[in-house]
Amino acid sequence: MAGSMPPLRIGQGWDTHRLVAGRPLILAGVQVPSEVGLSGHSDADVLFHAVTDAVLGALALGDIGMHFPDTAAEWKDAGSLQFLQHALDLAAQRGYALANVDATILLEKPKLKEFRTAIRQNLSRAVGLPLDCVSVKFKTGEKVGPVGEGLSCEAQAAVLMAASVE
Ligand code: C5P
Ligand code: MG
Repeated sequence: MAGSMPPLRIGQGWDTHRLVAGRPLILAGVQVPSEVGLSGHSDADVLFHAVTDAVLGALALGDIGMHFPDTAAEWKDAGSLQFLQHALDLAAQRGYALANVDATILLEKPKLKEFRTAIRQNLSRAVGLPLDCVSVKFKTGEKVGPVGEGLSCEAQAAVLMAASVE
């Protein structure tokens, strides 16, 4: 048990990446066929980044850039899955495990619903939770704003972290 810490802690995360030609569109490690992909360091996996920030946020451990600066040799060329696993390790060291995750990806196109199962399965494997504790939803930007104009893809995530009972 995490001492005097509360048994449950909530976290939320958000991330955005620009959509550009010549880059893959990778969401929770799933490569989705698309004319444009996510720009950024490493694989620019916007969903893993949002979930990582949500886990860090639940434990008040700062944000992804604090833990994984792109200037640090340790994290050079690191995949986003490693960021998420490291955040979960930090939480475990403090006595907390992920209970469930609910995420939303905002993307004008392509349609993602045929990839929902693959994305949920990958995320569920990444965080070590059963599929029914991992939710991934999709929304367009209704042609408005950077998402709606096809300039960016955003991800939002909410997590519940539960103190482990010993
Ligand atoms: O944004 P909107 O509410 O119009 O999206 C309608 C549905 O389209 C969503 O519920 C979602 O299942 C699907 N969708 C999708 N891929 C996207 C955006 C939305 O499959 N990139
Ligand atoms: Mg990111």
